[in-house]
Amino acid sequence: MNYAAKPIDFRDKARGYADLARQLEALLEGERHLTANAANTSSLLFHTLPDVNWTGFYLLEGEHLVVGPFQGKPACVRIGLDQGVCGAAARLRETVLVHDVHEFPGHIACDVASNSEVAVPLLRYGELLGVLDVDSPTVGRFDEEDRKGLEQVAHIFLASL
Ligand code: SME
Repeated sequence: MNYAAKPIDFRDKARGYADLARQLEALLEGERHLTANAANTSSLLFHTLPDVNWTGFYLLEGEHLVVGPFQGKPACVRIGLDQGVCGAAARLRETVLVHDVHEFPGHIACDVASNSEVAVPLLRYGELLGVLDVDSPTVGRFDEEDRKGLEQVAHIFLASL
């Protein structure tokens, strides 16, 4: 178990995400509790990813995604599967990367500072568990390297459970 969130150099994103993956594996090692691991994952993301203002989880309960462990400002509690970026990722079962949230129809503004966003669906044995969501104040903050890196983060989190 390693509780540290050591600073990561993301100038080379692929290397940065590889470092993040190693830190996350060490952080979650030996623990299978969903809330605990979601909380530590969101904290590690918040404290290592540059230029983000919200990192966290929405977990599926019935027909809604309900806010789970996160870092950032208070957020909307329930998101329908037909709503917002998170709902789209859950419904489509694929990562949704939004260059400018103000151009995404139905985007839910929790933190007015958010301008771009990535939502990664959490699929365990084909079952939708929820969504990992990351917001940035910068338009166009996320690219394909971020998609790959955050999908790897979701994979490590799911494998820990
Ligand atoms: N913007 C999200 C809502 C969640 S917050 O960003 C934390 C959406 O449109 O689904």
